[in-house]
Amino acid sequence: MLAHLRNISKLALPRRLVTQSASYSSSSSFLIDQPEYSFLKELGLERDNPGVYSGQWQGRGPSVTSYDPGTGRPIAKVRQGNVQELEQTIGLAVEAYKQWRQVPAPVRGEIVRQIGDELRKYKEPLGKLVSLEVGKIYSEGQGEVQEFIDICDYAVGLSRIYSGQLINSERADHSILEAWRPLGVVGVISAYNFPNAVFGWNAAIALTTGNSVLWKGAPSTPLVSVATTKIVAEVLRRNNLPPVVTLCQGGTDVGQTLVADKRVNLVSFTGSCQTGRDVGVEVQRRFGKVILELGGNNALIIDESANVKMALDAALFGCIGTSGQRCTTTRRIIVHEKLHDQFVKELVGKYKQLIPKIGHQLEAQTLVGPVHTQQNVENYKVAIAEAKSLGGTVAFGGNVIQRDGFYVEPTVITGLPHDASVVHRETFAPIVYILKAKNVDQAIEWNNEVEQGLSSAIFTENIGQAFKWIGAKGSDCGIVNINTTTNGAEIGGAFGGEKATGGGRESGSDAWKQYCKRATITVNHSGELACAQGVVFNVE
Ligand code: UN1
Repeated sequence: MLAHLRNISKLALPRRLVTQSASYSSSSSFLIDQPEYSFLKELGLERDNPGVYSGQWQGRGPSVTSYDPGTGRPIAKVRQGNVQELEQTIGLAVEAYKQWRQVPAPVRGEIVRQIGDELRKYKEPLGKLVSLEVGKIYSEGQGEVQEFIDICDYAVGLSRIYSGQLINSERADHSILEAWRPLGVVGVISAYNFPNAVFGWNAAIALTTGNSVLWKGAPSTPLVSVATTKIVAEVLRRNNLPPVVTLCQGGTDVGQTLVADKRVNLVSFTGSCQTGRDVGVEVQRRFGKVILELGGNNALIIDESANVKMALDAALFGCIGTSGQRCTTTRRIIVHEKLHDQFVKELVGKYKQLIPKIGHQLEAQTLVGPVHTQQNVENYKVAIAEAKSLGGTVAFGGNVIQRDGFYVEPTVITGLPHDASVVHRETFAPIVYILKAKNVDQAIEWNNEVEQGLSSAIFTENIGQAFKWIGAKGSDCGIVNINTTTNGAEIGGAFGGEKATGGGRESGSDAWKQYCKRATITVNHSGELACAQGVVFNVE
């Protein structure tokens, strides 16, 4: 099998791309100037784009070039904002909020409905841009825009039904009301792996609940930020609205200023645990609110009674989908000892079938695209070397694929201790560690022993084990699935996780409450003043 693996690089290279890369390597032209990339122009993009929007477009900070991870070729450029532009943008976002909060919630919902409709019009080219810029395959790029559309639909309904409550008072003729009010400006800092949907979940709910939104997308996916903001801005223009959505692309200085600015009432940050911790502390220092969506180290547990065929399919998408770069990617598979060897063999068999499907993210047959940058490749190499040095066996993959762009082999590693350093670390690459457990109790213990607590899943046909898994002694993650993947959550549930994942919840369920402040309102309609708890405090 090893000899077979050495040939992956050659096998994986579709002929058309080989020729393309060879002829393109001598040219420094931008993809946006090539006729086959005309969909970028449909999105209103140019070779050089301003990266700040606050009612109008500008950008006086450093210019960044966006690259196609599948070839390494430049797509187009974005002029980022500087700190001064960010500060001005925050000021305009505050002003926009003051008008927006007066708009009735269902009317705000109507604007979000129009944003959803506008996204439907541009779903194809925008999804294609997501694929091109991130490196994810065509259907996943389209799926990401679909998530944004779905949350818009959700938010439209929410705008008519989100509500407070009436609480019984202990005092006669008193009523206690609870109401939810907007916070002000919601800052959204999103990551490269979901450059469109994560902004969408935050923006749709934040707008509906009456906030204005200030977005800073990842520096390496600035074109998705610009194209998405253009779509939203068109809806705002048509409705004569102030810039209730603003954008400031930028580097670390812009990010740090946004996080530290008191006028940004909530910071919703998606990214690494390390940066998230700093963001959390900084926002807390000024008593702001924070939603943290940080790393995951998600396990798939295969119980003795599992439907193995289904579990294998779940493992394939869970470990390799998005080339292992979702927060919810399956990073550990914990298999019952009786099934372990057979499971590894069958999973490796499936991985082999994927070899001809490794390729450029926009090629129709591709299931495994590149990773996002050279840094992901380096992290992959470090993890593989560490796994080997700790006694792990590479059951499949383990190599960087030599071709233009950033390609690595999907990799299966067995034989490591459940608590090996590399197993406990999240590496944003398609590497999975398969661990052999005695029973479900041990598997749950291992599931819970990592720092992160985002997603988890068990495959079992045993109802007792299933309920143990979702009970108080079960998985300690925010997402606790049964007989399905760790990744690919729908928008209807609350999305997020515990422990070092940060504790935030976005998207569905009652996650909207995080974008609001709660007012507890006691109304005395008795005509006399009465203190609670029977306290007497008056003079004649
Ligand atoms: C992320 O990786 O940051 O559940 C978000 C999923 C997607 C979202 C992932 N709906 O995999």
